[in-house]
Parts: sequence; C-alpha cells; structure tokens
Amino acid sequence: MATSSIVGMIFGLLLALKYIVLLAEARAFFVFGDSLVDSGNNNYLATTARADSPPYGIDYPTHRPTGRFSNGLNIPDLISQLIGSESVLPYLSPELSGQKLLNGANFASAGIGILNDTGVQFINIIRMYRQLEYFNEYQRRARALIGADQTTRLVKGALVLVTVGGNDFVNNYYLVPYSARSRQFRLPDYVKYLISEYRKLLITLYKQGARRVLVTGTGPMGCVPAELATRSTNGGCSAELQRAASLYNPQLAQMLKGLNMEIGKTVFISANTQQTHRDFISNPQAYGFTTSKIACCGQGPFNGLGLCTIASNLCPNRNLYAFWDPFHPSEKANRLIVEQIYSGTTKYMDPMNLSTIMTLDARA
Ligand SMILES: *[C@@H]1O[C@H](CO)[C@@H](O)[C@H](O)[C@H]1NC(C)=O
Ligand SMILES: *[C@@H]1O[C@H](CO)[C@@H](O)[C@H](O)[C@H]1NC(C)=O
Repeated sequence: MATSSIVGMIFGLLLALKYIVLLAEARAFFVFGDSLVDSGNNNYLATTARADSPPYGIDYPTHRPTGRFSNGLNIPDLISQLIGSESVLPYLSPELSGQKLLNGANFASAGIGILNDTGVQFINIIRMYRQLEYFNEYQRRARALIGADQTTRLVKGALVLVTVGGNDFVNNYYLVPYSARSRQFRLPDYVKYLISEYRKLLITLYKQGARRVLVTGTGPMGCVPAELATRSTNGGCSAELQRAASLYNPQLAQMLKGLNMEIGKTVFISANTQQTHRDFISNPQAYGFTTSKIACCGQGPFNGLGLCTIASNLCPNRNLYAFWDPFHPSEKANRLIVEQIYSGTTKYMDPMNLSTIMTLDARA
C-alpha cells in the first residue's frame, strides 16, 4: 500500500475517533479559586473585585465583558475546550440549570485566598469554605435532576481545577506594611500555615467526591506589572514576593504528593505555573510577546498602577503582551499555561499532564 493511502486511512480513523469522543457525554468540570479562574461569579456580588466593564472581554467572542479577568478567554475556558465541552457557567449564574448544570460549575471568586481574612477589602466575595459549601449544594441540585448514583458518578468522573494562594500574599500578608499576618508570622511560617490550611480544604474536596484535581501554584508574583510598578527598584522583580513564591510552590507540590500517598491514588496533580510564567518572563520573544513587564491595560509605570478601565492605556494587539492587566495574564499567556497543563513534561506537571490523565480516565 502506498504511504499516502496509509496516511489517508489513519487520518480517516482519527476523524472517526474524534466524532465518537464528541458523541460521548462530555466530562463535567468544576473550578474553585480566585480571579485567575473566576468566570463571572463576582458580577452577582456587591464587591469591588470585578471585571464586568470594558475593556475586559475586548477579545472575548462577544467582545463584551463577562467578569473574566482577561481580554478574552481564561484558563477554565481553554481547559473546557480541550476536554471537549462548553465553558462552565459561574455557579451564581441564573442560567445554570438543566443540562448546563450537568456540565459542571465554576465556583471561583476574584479576591479570595486560602484564608478567610484574605481579600477582606473586597467585602462580599465567595471564600474557599463557601465555594466548597456551594459544591455540596450543587450536588443536591444534581441529585434532584439525575438521582444520587448518577450524581456520584458525575462528580467522581469530573475534572476539577483549583487556583488559589496568590491573594494570601498580595492581598493579605503584603497588602500593607506591618499587616496583621506579617506581624503574626515570619514568611516561612506563614507559608507553612497556608499549606496546612490549603491541605484541609483539599481533603474536604476529596471527601465531597473529587477524584481528579489539577492544582496550580502561584506565578512569579514579584514579576507582575503591579509589583514592578510599586515594589521594584530598577525594573527587576520584587525580591520579597519572589521569595514568597519560591517558598510556597515547592511546598504545595510536596503537600499534594503527600495527600496522594495517603489516599493511595493520584487524585491531586500539581501544575507548576511558576515555571511556565518564568519561561515567558525570562524570554518573552520566544513566545511571541514583545513584553512580559508592561501590562496591556493600565496606567503609570509598566501600566501597573490602579485598575484596568475604559480610561486606561490600552495596547492595540493583546497577543503581544504576557499581561493583560497589572495582575492577570492575557488570553495568549493563558493559552501557553494551558498548553503546558495539557502536554507539559514532568517539569511542569507532576506526576502527569492532562493529556495523560484523559487517556487513563478514558480507559477506566
Ligand atoms: C472560615 O470561616 C468559616 C465560616 O465562618 C469557618 O467555618 C471556617 O472554619 C473558617 N476557616 C478558617 C481557616 O478559619
Ligand atoms: C505529556 O503529554 C505528551 C503528549 O501530549 C506526552 O508525549 C508526554 O509524555 C506527557 N508527559 C508526561 C510527563 O505525562
């Protein structure tokens, strides 16, 4: 047989496989965490932590703000695309019912942290313990729709994403000089405390039925435009926040490993987002960015001061910027992060990447 016809056959087979995958019921997806993954819950709350006015959403399919802290799609949207389902709705959305409910839900809320006292200045936000309570409520609603057995199966078969922790530094420990937490703890002890509180939250999630949980670390917090604008001397990253990230991320990965050992299964998968960010911060041109220091939308040095609003400087081409606003990656950067989550080596994904998880779970 000619090589070209073999290639044609394989190609046809791949198309057929893709079709079967699309016909199969898509896997549910649940998201917990902060603004990096909030898809609009805060639109429904009385809080200042919101992204529901222009130019947020300028590159979203509707070109309108949605509550996502991005010019376009965010990390959960891009993961949904990879697992072959629609973006999951914010839990507070009135549209979340019927078939849409069975697709999963996004519980994330901008401004929150691992600790209850993180983000107090944002007033009304959905803290982690509350996001987990909503997950129970979600399951009650699903049981009413499809019964207990199917709900258990839906939750155990689901993919879960948890992104939280950055605000416990930026909007708590380092929010003001001599913050309550910084007077209470030295940085290394604060990190230990955060990890132990995070561990409790993840155990609750496991008890609620979660069986495949992607947990992202923090990015290089000292290098975001907001920190370059306020803490940096000579344009370098803030040493103190970089120290925090370098203490926190490895201990998070260790904690997840320990949980898996105790459970006896790979439930928690650690995504080394610090490494992904470090790649495009140290060599932005290699990823098609003209800068990883200046935010696309903002004002002041590095466009890193204040909020991104209609009155801010706005770059014409968002794909050239690693940061959309002073704290949040652009859609393009989110794509790079999700690419690593999907197919990264063990340097990025411990113990395995999402493509491997999907292969394993499809066999189970
Ligand atoms: C956070 O607040 C809730 C509700 O008050 C409480 O149940 C929970 O234990 C608190 N978590 C921590 C870590 O203090
Ligand atoms: C990650 O995904 C790619 C395929 O997309 C695979 O070749 C690679 O071996 C995976 N790495 C790990 C560590 O699972």
